[in-house]
Amino acid sequence: MVAPWIVVERKLGMNWLRGMIAGASLVCVGMTLSAQTAKPPAGPWRNTSLSPDERADLLIQAMTLDEKIALLHGVGMPTDEPVTTENAASNRGVGYVVGVPRLGIPGIDMGDAAYGVRSSGANGRYSTALPANVAAAASWNPDAAYEYGALIGRELRAQGYNMSLGGGVDLTREPRNGRTFEYLGEDPVLAGTLVAHLIEGTQSAHVIGDIKHYAFNDQESGRTTVNVHIGERAARESDLLAFEIGVTQGHPAAVMCSYNLFNGDYACENKYLLNDLLKKEWKFPGFVVSDWGGTHSTGKASAAGLDNEEHTRVFFEAKYKAAVEAGTIPAAELDEHVHRILRTMFAAGIVDDPRQRSVVDPFAGFETARKIEESGIVLLKNERATLPLDGAKLRSVAVIGAHADVGMISGGGSAQVDPIGGNAIKPAGEGATHWMDQIWFPTSPLKAIVARAPQARVAYESGENIDAAVKLAKSSDVAVVFAYEWESEGKDLDSLALHGNQNALIAAVAAANPRTVVVLETGSPVTMPWVAAPAAILEAWYAGSDGASAVGNVLFGVVNPSGKLPNTFPLSEADLPHPTVAQPLSGDFDSTAAASDGSLKKQIFDVHYDEGFLVGYKWYDAKQKPVLFPFGYGLSYTTYAYSNLSVETGAMVKATFTVANTGARDGAEIAEVYAALPAGLGEPPKRLVGWSRVWLKAGEKKTVTVAIDPKYLSIFDEQAHAWKLAPGAYTLRVGGSSDKLPLEKIVALP
Ligand code: BGC
Repeated sequence: MVAPWIVVERKLGMNWLRGMIAGASLVCVGMTLSAQTAKPPAGPWRNTSLSPDERADLLIQAMTLDEKIALLHGVGMPTDEPVTTENAASNRGVGYVVGVPRLGIPGIDMGDAAYGVRSSGANGRYSTALPANVAAAASWNPDAAYEYGALIGRELRAQGYNMSLGGGVDLTREPRNGRTFEYLGEDPVLAGTLVAHLIEGTQSAHVIGDIKHYAFNDQESGRTTVNVHIGERAARESDLLAFEIGVTQGHPAAVMCSYNLFNGDYACENKYLLNDLLKKEWKFPGFVVSDWGGTHSTGKASAAGLDNEEHTRVFFEAKYKAAVEAGTIPAAELDEHVHRILRTMFAAGIVDDPRQRSVVDPFAGFETARKIEESGIVLLKNERATLPLDGAKLRSVAVIGAHADVGMISGGGSAQVDPIGGNAIKPAGEGATHWMDQIWFPTSPLKAIVARAPQARVAYESGENIDAAVKLAKSSDVAVVFAYEWESEGKDLDSLALHGNQNALIAAVAAANPRTVVVLETGSPVTMPWVAAPAAILEAWYAGSDGASAVGNVLFGVVNPSGKLPNTFPLSEADLPHPTVAQPLSGDFDSTAAASDGSLKKQIFDVHYDEGFLVGYKWYDAKQKPVLFPFGYGLSYTTYAYSNLSVETGAMVKATFTVANTGARDGAEIAEVYAALPAGLGEPPKRLVGWSRVWLKAGEKKTVTVAIDPKYLSIFDEQAHAWKLAPGAYTLRVGGSSDKLPLEKIVALP
């Protein structure tokens, strides 16, 4: 179905890549050879039959005080800084810890890697942009999350990094959060499960994986001065549950503490978060790294459990050494931090199997990115079976929307991946990305549609001129409108409305052509005053390196959509727990002056998360607020039916039921299981406790069993500081969307 000229163009594109790879290989050979000549010094810690903890202890005995201190901090951001003696061996990423060169212990080379490896363009290297993390969450597919992480891990290692700065799992408590695209939705069980798989995937490539931003970095506005207030039970049953699942099931080697304050203390000097919860209760054996510039003290942070200051060294270098020498920080405390860092390096394999620069396989990257995007696209509306489009029958298609001729938007900030050849909307050759630029990947929806409708006249209008777009839509069989909302670290969205003239454009085009399809490229939910007008709506998120192929495949039915929303789409912002995002006193998102010396403490401002654990659908359910599109919702080109629920109780509660594909196309259905806890516990009407993604051929039926972790049925008991399964009647509800759960069974738990 691919038009010949597209094939030619693709081949040219890949030849260009091949050239780049050949060049990179030459560089790699040189680096590998020089690395091979340096023989690591002998030492008992080299004995691989010892445990990582034993090896770390042996190594510590051989280290000087300065060598120990050097592990506790970064040496700046090599990406942005000149080459120095300290950072010369680094990969020129965003963070570098020098290691122990005298003893042959490598440096820790940190690369941002939320949806792909950042800053590759500056190093002249290729990395795949996966669809945004929220798109992967919409696939509800733990295997896809693993693949997502594994691809990132492979590309990090191939580029010379040995530590990933990905694994974002702050809950979508505030959907206007500018980093919503980097996170995994509003439900702690969904987000926690997926991030655990993503981390396992990343670490399978012998790189140190991490989880971030721990915890409650749920808004960007004033992120370094916002003091989040929330009660313990509410915290444990919401954001902290996502981290608990991520840490205990995904076993990340590192945890990045966040910029904000949590109940009065900065997250990176918060004893409750770091020592009590993470290290003691969850038995996390790895190390805690501060977000960049997120360290605020020496003694307090060290005692609270911070192990490594990034990317600065204001508190964990000279001041730390002086405190150890003066005895105000015990030597054992220093050794504990050093131990955690070293044992993690041994456990992750970065000492015994050091990074080897090599060549990434861009073809595999494209394919993985496309497949994950295809499983994460959510079909929100499809009247009169407008989709899928029939490529053989269409005579004319209007493609409308900003830059839909050349590319698709990506998420910004430290997550930003560099597109091949630079920003699709900038002149060729402008090279790598720039902070706060909107970056469009050269994956053209227009070309994808042309390729799939070979007989059709496909014409393009940017939508800037609504009259011209309407004229084109009127004269076309089908109008496909691409609408977008850019998000980035460093700012929150002003509102959930599409910006500029996009609402008016969609309304006008849909009024002109009854076969109008809207494709959204957003990270957060959007409000849709025009929702009744178009025949079909697809949420494509930030679609990644090969996003247009994935969208084309769904539009034309090569792929049957199966994604379900990981975030509720509210009807209006007035329905959110907080009508506006709390703003810092200075009006600055970062209030950066507060980050380094703590002198602006007076600028700290409070946000009270009084909604507690009523995050996302739990809030709308509890408050009985109707929504635009509910959590867990998503249509398919086929239909599914649910029957025969039975529930087995015991050590593990198990829900068994039948799902049937009652339509004419094969497809994957995400079968969701929710629980209503016994009345009187103060819990929301339902919570997600499990799901299964089931592949069903047309007409096929399968029996599905979902085993439910008892913790997901429990409440957090503040008195006992422990999870408690309360006795009583639990209602289990099963179906294909949080608002459509046809099966129900009440079971008594002792
Ligand atoms: C971000 C982190 C990122 C770090 C390094 C910070 O501003 O919050 O997510 O890993 O920068 O770039």
